[in-house]
Amino acid sequence: MKNIIVLVSGGGTNLQALIDAENSGIIKDGKITCVISSKPDVYALERARNNDIPTRVILRKEYSDSVTYSKAILDALREEKADLIVLAGFMTILDECVTKEYAYKIINVHPALIPSFCGEGYYGLKVHEKALEYGVKVSGATIHFVNEKADAGAIILQGTVNVENDDTPEILQRRIMENVEWKLLPKAVSLFCQDRIEIINGKAYVK
Ligand code: GAR
Repeated sequence: MKNIIVLVSGGGTNLQALIDAENSGIIKDGKITCVISSKPDVYALERARNNDIPTRVILRKEYSDSVTYSKAILDALREEKADLIVLAGFMTILDECVTKEYAYKIINVHPALIPSFCGEGYYGLKVHEKALEYGVKVSGATIHFVNEKADAGAIILQGTVNVENDDTPEILQRRIMENVEWKLLPKAVSLFCQDRIEIINGKAYVK
């Protein structure tokens, strides 16, 4: 059974999708053993507590830079004996001290079709604002491994939705979450826990 540590910073709807998938047996061979938040009082922490999942709060604002913050996260991940780390709406970029030690063991959900609308500064609603500003007709979400460059690790799964003429960033965000993120993130976690993701020449393939 793999120890899954979920990192959050907000409402935690993706965390909820993971909890539901674990409870209904969609995630096999893995268990969410800890939720770590970079912010206090976020609803994601409530969701964890409601499901008796241990929580830790490691406040980003208490650290002067991302390297010292990442070292604190690394200590926690080691203590929790993490086998898989899931960034589920985690709004902080992790330094390479974490991404190197956990290469191909950190999964992120990004709310766009990488390599579009991604990288530093593209997170949350901003991603959807940029996609609408550009005028794309399809968007979606990407589940990928995390490496030392923002949103540049090997892609595991992607899914799309149509963009409608009268979409707002909020409406598009919700459509992508419901139709793609909440389905594909648990699926990727399940595949990982069953050792069904193979890396060949830096690319991820589902076996
Ligand atoms: C999700 O849409 C997720 O894809 C996005 O933030 C939202 C978090 O929602 N993540 C990023 O933008 C990371 N770059 P949630 O807290 O309800 O899961």
